[in-house]
Amino acid sequence: MKNNQFITLAIETSCDETSVALVADGREVLSNVILSQVDTHTIFGGVVPEIASRHHLENINRVAQNAMREASIKPDEIDMIGVTYGPGLVGALLIGIATAKAFSFAWNKPLVGVHHIQGHISANYITHKELEPPFVSLVISGGHTSIVEVTGYNECRVLGKTRDDAAGKAYDKVARVLGIGYPGGPAIDRIAKEGNPHAVEFKRVFLEKDSFDFSFSGIKTGVLNYLNSEKQAGRDIHIADVAASFQLAIMEVVVFKCISAVRFAKTDKLVLAGGVAANSLLKKMLSEECEKYGIELYYPPPVLCTDNAAMIGCAAYYKYIAGGKDDLTLDAFANLEL
Ligand code: KG4
Ligand code: ZN
Repeated sequence: MKNNQFITLAIETSCDETSVALVADGREVLSNVILSQVDTHTIFGGVVPEIASRHHLENINRVAQNAMREASIKPDEIDMIGVTYGPGLVGALLIGIATAKAFSFAWNKPLVGVHHIQGHISANYITHKELEPPFVSLVISGGHTSIVEVTGYNECRVLGKTRDDAAGKAYDKVARVLGIGYPGGPAIDRIAKEGNPHAVEFKRVFLEKDSFDFSFSGIKTGVLNYLNSEKQAGRDIHIADVAASFQLAIMEVVVFKCISAVRFAKTDKLVLAGGVAANSLLKKMLSEECEKYGIELYYPPPVLCTDNAAMIGCAAYYKYIAGGKDDLTLDAFANLEL
């Protein structure tokens, strides 16, 4: 406790960001230190799990010290330790969990394991102090693409999810074939602004009528086939046009399904979460559609869209006050259903 506030120290290491945050009363961020390994993984065009774990191990103590210093919080002022326990890269998750257990044991504080997706959704509680469930959330990141009906802080139902690649993964793959860098999402978002989104008609995959599921794996092949046929025909390739056309093909499907899901769930709030929620076209298209249907749209700032520990601290707080607690047997799960 500090000034009568409940203080959570939260840890996130599920992929390639080493992050530690101090969060007061679940929604106030005192510090949120994020050490990204993106430069290390760029040369491989994707995250190398073994390298990610080693980097987490090398950096986690320093990141934790910096987070505590920045928040002016000492160990005896911390009330609880929250940590991501899945889904994610198992070796990367284990570094965060081992650190959280060590703090919990040494300082005699309760330990709470958090589902990474629950964390992404919770980033919105930090940003929008008035936001409460129920609502529909689009969780769209490098590892996940799901539409979730959130009925309480700790209750939700998955309405649909990707049957193959996550949207962020499709962005990363297409950026790689276009040779515009890693991570692909921000690169395509930027370059697409200079392109014509109607230059190439990539196939929109809606699946069965009324399904809230997605399929994004075919679009990389669509882009590859287009690039090959243009090369064979000796035509110049306009990267910005391809990026803009790819992005529109993805987002038309995502926006349509989100609006349908909000209406299906009979709510009037749509909440975006995950790395791809930082995408400027997605926010623009959804703002316009939500306005048409009288839906309130919520999303976090980019720094809380991508992986960070503050969102884990928020989710841990709501799990803890509902009686959720873990112990030193807490394990990591690469695949963890919501
Ligand atoms: O949530 P996150 O940091 O990690 C996972 O849990 O997966 O999301 C990372 C993903 C990457 O695929 C990255 O390309 C994508 O989010 N991303 C974006 C944007 N910023 C990050 N995708 C589209 N537009 C963006 N502006
Ligand atoms: Zn994530």
